[in-house]
Amino acid sequence: METTLLKTIPSLLSETIHESLGEICGLLQQKVPHYTWVGFYFMNHRKKQLHLGPYSGKPTDHNIIPFGKGICGQVAVSGETYLAENVEEEDNYIACSVDVRSEIVVPLYVGDGLVAQLDIDSDQVNAFTEADEKFLKEVCSLLARTYGSQLEFENFFPSDH
Ligand code: SME
Repeated sequence: METTLLKTIPSLLSETIHESLGEICGLLQQKVPHYTWVGFYFMNHRKKQLHLGPYSGKPTDHNIIPFGKGICGQVAVSGETYLAENVEEEDNYIACSVDVRSEIVVPLYVGDGLVAQLDIDSDQVNAFTEADEKFLKEVCSLLARTYGSQLEFENFFPSDH
């Protein structure tokens, strides 16, 4: 499944970067049954906060998340993938929906710079495996190779800083 999806993604990269990332979120959310919400957060290093970019799933109130707050905010600080097997056991977690049971957040690097995150929720406990982590890292790496500095906050949201 994941290998097929990875092969599909390059065909989605021909539109504008905003459209392409939205298409990728939609593809992942529709094709992978345990992905119930898929979205990108972008690192505003100047304001030390994350800004929600394209996503697929129910709308969230959390368009802006301070570094350090919630799972995403922790990844903004650590720069490392975070896999929350059961969100009810997390003491630093921001609930976007009462249905969410587990979450994975994968950092997106361009060179050495942490520019964004790929955040995925599931309504099943312990839904994510090492295979998901490997696959999602490959998606992030493909995006970094394709878009480079266009993924930096100031370039992705040019009117927002
Ligand atoms: N659960 C995340 C917040 C983002 S929503 O899942 C869309 C967190 O704890 O950072």
